[in-house]
Amino acid sequence: MSDPRYADRTSRPKTVERTIAVCFTVSLLSTVGFAATYWQTGPDMLLGVFFAMIFLGMGVGVIAWGKYLMPQGPFVEERHPLTTTEEDKQEFAEAFGRGADSIKRRKLLGKLFVAVNGVFAIALIIPLRSLLGAKTPGSELYHTNFGKGTRLVTVNGEPVTLAALDVGGAQTVFPEGYVGSATGQTILIRPQTTPLVTKPGRETWSPAGYLAFSKVCTHAGCPVGLYLQEFKELLCPCHQSVFDVSTGATQVFGPAPRPLPQLPLAVNSQGYLVSQHDYDEPIGPGFWSRGALWNGHNS
Ligand code: FES
Repeated sequence: MSDPRYADRTSRPKTVERTIAVCFTVSLLSTVGFAATYWQTGPDMLLGVFFAMIFLGMGVGVIAWGKYLMPQGPFVEERHPLTTTEEDKQEFAEAFGRGADSIKRRKLLGKLFVAVNGVFAIALIIPLRSLLGAKTPGSELYHTNFGKGTRLVTVNGEPVTLAALDVGGAQTVFPEGYVGSATGQTILIRPQTTPLVTKPGRETWSPAGYLAFSKVCTHAGCPVGLYLQEFKELLCPCHQSVFDVSTGATQVFGPAPRPLPQLPLAVNSQGYLVSQHDYDEPIGPGFWSRGALWNGHNS
């Protein structure tokens, strides 16, 4: 009589085997799908679905295998005399035979399991392509498209004149030719009609009371879009950072770690607002060793 501990824990082992094989096959095909989608730069949602199917198939298959087809414990042996009787030898031969049968029977599952893991391991190497072929940002993080004499334009691409804003007004502007640029988005405000010196060295940056600051919040990059003329403050709606424009958009409240960079303005011979040069520091949230990199970059 065979040992019940080694018996399958299901009355339908073939059905369970087939189910496990289907699970492993689903996992295998999902891995191939994942790799192909990644290679073709397919939608992220599809990548997520394939990724979930890989682990779902593999997980269900392994659990079913362990639960229904593997010998179950507890395995407790009585201590026997240290001699091998004829009966023991016969029992061993029978147990060995049963094991061999079981191994033969589940060869397909074993192969599928190895294939699933092998293909999955290969699929995991593919994303390295993103690292090896990735384009480095170079000096992009340090510059916007504003330069000497670049005209400020509205979201419609129209150049901004000195008559664009009344006192207390605010408007989003971009460097000419780069409407919609993420790094060039700038908030133009007019707190007063006379030049407003926000810091020493910025005496010429505010023609007719116009001030321009980067719209990219220095906290997490949200667009700073609200201007409160009463307090002369800019407000970031994401986490309520508040910047005092009369002191160079220094932060007076909220998590922003540094002021909004100011764009030096001038008026060209046709009466349009232009930038004197690019922002004199990187816009947006900080990145590692910003100061050291920026100094090194300028040198
Ligand atoms: S992104 Fe502006 S306060 Fe957080």
